[in-house]
Amino acid sequence: MSTERDIRFTAADFRRLRQMLYQRVGISLNDSKSHMAYSRLAKRVRQLGMRQFADYLDLLEKADDEAEWQHFVNALTTNLTAFFREPHHFDLLRLHAMERVTQERHYRVWSAAVSTGEEAYSIAMTLLSLPQLNRQRLELVASDIDTRVLSQAADGVYDAERAKMLDSSLLKRFFLRGVGHNAGKVRIRREVRDQLSFYQFNLVAAEWPDMGRFDVIFCRNVLIYFDKPTQAAILQRLAASLQPDGLLFLGHSENIQHLSDAFQSCGRTAYRLVNHNVRR
Ligand SMILES: C[S@@+](CC[C@H](N)C(=O)[O-])C[C@H]1O[C@@H](n2cnc3c(N)ncnc32)[C@H](O)[C@@H]1O
Repeated sequence: MSTERDIRFTAADFRRLRQMLYQRVGISLNDSKSHMAYSRLAKRVRQLGMRQFADYLDLLEKADDEAEWQHFVNALTTNLTAFFREPHHFDLLRLHAMERVTQERHYRVWSAAVSTGEEAYSIAMTLLSLPQLNRQRLELVASDIDTRVLSQAADGVYDAERAKMLDSSLLKRFFLRGVGHNAGKVRIRREVRDQLSFYQFNLVAAEWPDMGRFDVIFCRNVLIYFDKPTQAAILQRLAASLQPDGLLFLGHSENIQHLSDAFQSCGRTAYRLVNHNVRR
């Protein structure tokens, strides 16, 4: 498939690009994503003064330039997200935290594919609204492979339009409204942003750093980009990263049936860890 585009991009280039992306971050692009790959990367190829994708892929492979690889990955991830997406998960989170915080210990939650941050801030708003949970007892970790979205998440600045469906009490308590040249924007208040620790984290990395065990893990709308063996391996590691009876939330189209026996369903794409002896 040679295209009429100004940068040469053949079917073989797409297959090669797809393989490189899969090896790096586990994402499996299907054939229908060829156009997307072109449109997201052609500008970069042009910027580098190249006329064909093959040269760009050679550069990635031969120069082993970490920054360029990151550019490549950032361009090809899909980062769609929203505040309180799949709101039933936040109801379960609230109930789970209310049961747990009577114990004298921290409550720890990990958003493992946080994208631009809306998911992690929805978790923070839910938990900080509970009278039982104060800031000192709450630990929130947020990670993603994509450094561009992670930096947006840490900034916590959004178009006001994205937050307009939120309850006015949440808006008042957790957001600042932009004025002057920031009109039309909202920003998560500093004390809430400071509550979160952001890390770049590749779910398909050969080794996972030991982050301790979490009470809850949100790993939503990312497994869909991986093939079944990769999903099963990640589920195994997620199970090993949860406290006994910890909760795992997946995305609306993700299903762990036949992939893991460590969990029991406890709601719509919500799972409770039942096998506590899982090892990474
Ligand atoms: C569609 S977003 C999901 C955002 C949020 N969890 C939600 O459900 O609204 C998928 C995210 O997964 C991230 N991602 C893709 N591959 C990844 C990997 N190997 N490790 C960690 N994050 C990855 C992408 O960068 C993207 O931000």
